[in-house]
Amino acid sequence: MTDITTEKATAAASGAAATEQFRSKQQARTAEADTQRVDTLVTELLTATHDIIRRHQVTYAEYDALKAWLIRVGEDGEWPLFLDVWVEHTVEEVAGEVREGTKGSIEGPYYVPDAPILPAESTLPMREDEAGTPLLFQGQVTGVGGSPLPAAKVEIWQADDDGYYSQFAPGLPEWNLRGTVIADESGNFRIHTIQPAPYQIPTDGACGQLIRAAGWHPWRPAHLHLKVSAPGHQLITTQLYFTGGEYVDDDIASAVKPELILSPTVAGDGSGNEVTYDFALDRA
Ligand code: DHB
Ligand code: FE
Repeated sequence: MTDITTEKATAAASGAAATEQFRSKQQARTAEADTQRVDTLVTELLTATHDIIRRHQVTYAEYDALKAWLIRVGEDGEWPLFLDVWVEHTVEEVAGEVREGTKGSIEGPYYVPDAPILPAESTLPMREDEAGTPLLFQGQVTGVGGSPLPAAKVEIWQADDDGYYSQFAPGLPEWNLRGTVIADESGNFRIHTIQPAPYQIPTDGACGQLIRAAGWHPWRPAHLHLKVSAPGHQLITTQLYFTGGEYVDDDIASAVKPELILSPTVAGDGSGNEVTYDFALDRA
């Protein structure tokens, strides 16, 4: 993991960490690309690009601006951020077409495997004075038919109340707001955490430059990230959002689905908010 020693969260630092995280994940994969498929996909991508150039009479100045920008995306380490914000949602949509259970959503660039293992009722690792409204996030993991899945695994990671992810922004404890919760023998879990803040994608790098140039905004709605799995079942990667939250209807990463919006209520004991969300996993 990149050693983030700068005081401020910068695009270059979080981009470098996200790039390194992706490389270590990708190293484990060895599949050979199918020549025919590469030919088809790349040829269609290039043809679509050529068509856009003709249709919009793209100039040399615009071509050179694109070239300079693409070079900068690499220099800033922002390929993971760029792809996960503007491309991954369609890959996820295609992957989800063959599943019946809980809807998936994009993984994004900030998953780190092997977060601390925690029992079915747990508080996520957090600072003593962690800011934000406390949230009890509870539920049950079942098969699509409703049968409980004992000892299901609920991996959760989220931004803090400032919208920062541990291991990608400076100054946060290594596993802050990250955990691997093992559900009980009925698939139930109770996770004590805080409500995350909306997340602003870094604006001081190439992605920020694009956002300003196109007149867009850089925000994702507040969200919890999850990977839920159980033996004999398909792992689901998803995100959960908060009803009425800013940018829920206007996510820069186009990753919100109506089935993934939580409606927390105020906890009876005045300790914050609570919400129940159950996961249904497809068979492997
Ligand atoms: C990005 C960040 C996220 O937290 C997320 O969920 C998806 C994408 C990004 O910066 O690319
Ligand atoms: Fe995120």
